[in-house]
Amino acid sequence: MKKLIIEGKRELTGTIKISGAKNSIVALIPATILSDGKCTIYNVPNISDVHRLIDMLKILKVKVKFENETLYIDSTNSINAEIPEEHATKLRASYYFMGALLSKYKHSEISYPGGCSIGARPIDLHINGFNKLGATTKIEDNKYKITAKKLVGTDIFLDIASVGATINLMLAAVKAKGITHIYNAAKEPEIVNVSSFLSSMGAKIYGAGTGEITIEGVDKLGDGIVEVIPDRIEAGTYLMIGSLLGKNLVIEGIVKEHLGSVITKLKEAGCDLEIKGSTININKVKNLKAVNVKTLVYPGFPTDLGQPMSALLTQCEGESFFEENIYENRMRHIKHLNAMGAKIKLFDRSAIITGKTPLKGRNVVATDLRAGAAMLVAGMIAEGTTVISNIEHILRGYENIVEKLSQVGASVKIMEE
Ligand code: UD1
Repeated sequence: MKKLIIEGKRELTGTIKISGAKNSIVALIPATILSDGKCTIYNVPNISDVHRLIDMLKILKVKVKFENETLYIDSTNSINAEIPEEHATKLRASYYFMGALLSKYKHSEISYPGGCSIGARPIDLHINGFNKLGATTKIEDNKYKITAKKLVGTDIFLDIASVGATINLMLAAVKAKGITHIYNAAKEPEIVNVSSFLSSMGAKIYGAGTGEITIEGVDKLGDGIVEVIPDRIEAGTYLMIGSLLGKNLVIEGIVKEHLGSVITKLKEAGCDLEIKGSTININKVKNLKAVNVKTLVYPGFPTDLGQPMSALLTQCEGESFFEENIYENRMRHIKHLNAMGAKIKLFDRSAIITGKTPLKGRNVVATDLRAGAAMLVAGMIAEGTTVISNIEHILRGYENIVEKLSQVGASVKIMEE
């Protein structure tokens, strides 16, 4: 077990470069299975989820080389195999092998996917979609066995605009006979990134990034090439930290359009952000003011930034209303913020945050990945030492976090327990 030790209140100056998006790469890696040739993926973050997915590719006899932020993947001699429980449960995105293997081999066997416990997180929309395409799904020994004689294009309406279901159904439909429409598709930028990758292999996908995606099935997919988009959640986290501690802090390598709701909310709170192309220059301001934040599907305020934003709201003057609308269990960090001195009243999935309150360093827990990010923001602005345990969660999503923050003047280090 690892802990993150933070000495708070350090001014941050210099440049933080944003890495490739975790939620893109975790779908792009399983998507390589669909190619009958070689794939190259640029701007790959060196995070634990990537290594776990590479391990899964190796089970499928795929050749992988990872160097200079680039993945070279050769699926020419890949085989179909079960993804065993000890691999599948390590991360949520292992479920993308369901769609990819079903598409390529008409059969996939994989245990229930793992991931952060932030709610029930069912995968019924994925399974219903596979079944509509012609598959049958059995659950035996906590394992999904999904099989199809053939996959045939169809109309799929998603009851919820789910990111995972949209990508998984795109993967399953690219080689189906005929045309598939996905209605109420999720619109997140990561979906466009995956669609571009599949198109580079020869897939015919139209409308990714909108609520209606059309996929015309093709027989074969060849070599693929793609660059992972910048991680908008990592960027948002550093924008929040910079708004509280920055002095000419530069966040480099962002796509500002992906961060529209976040930049707008931070500016509404009074944050000083100067956008120049793909960089944002930040300076701490004295008086931030309370704002209301409700998490929504893209382009709304991302649920993955709700928790770190709630830490920032403790430093805003007045009462902020904060509401989580995607997951049922994303408020477990609030008691830790209160233990550090925040004044937050929690009502199930919403909270009233009264600021501004000074925070004091404490021993706290990263109960999930983005709760860890909230603890990081809080620890960085707190008086004294904050010790965050269970930081394996944080390391899943933030590449080189200690190096990136230390380089701009933070006092953060990792200790093994
Ligand atoms: C992805 C992201 C995660 C982010 C989330 C929402 C990855 C690996 N993870 O997760 O970081 O927080 O999008 O932006 O990309 N749902 C169902 N049935 C389903 C599928 C989803 O009820 O079959 C519900 C979920 O429980 C949740 C909501 O739909 O309440 C949204 O989930 P979804 O968009 O699928 O999130 P993930 O793809 O799991």
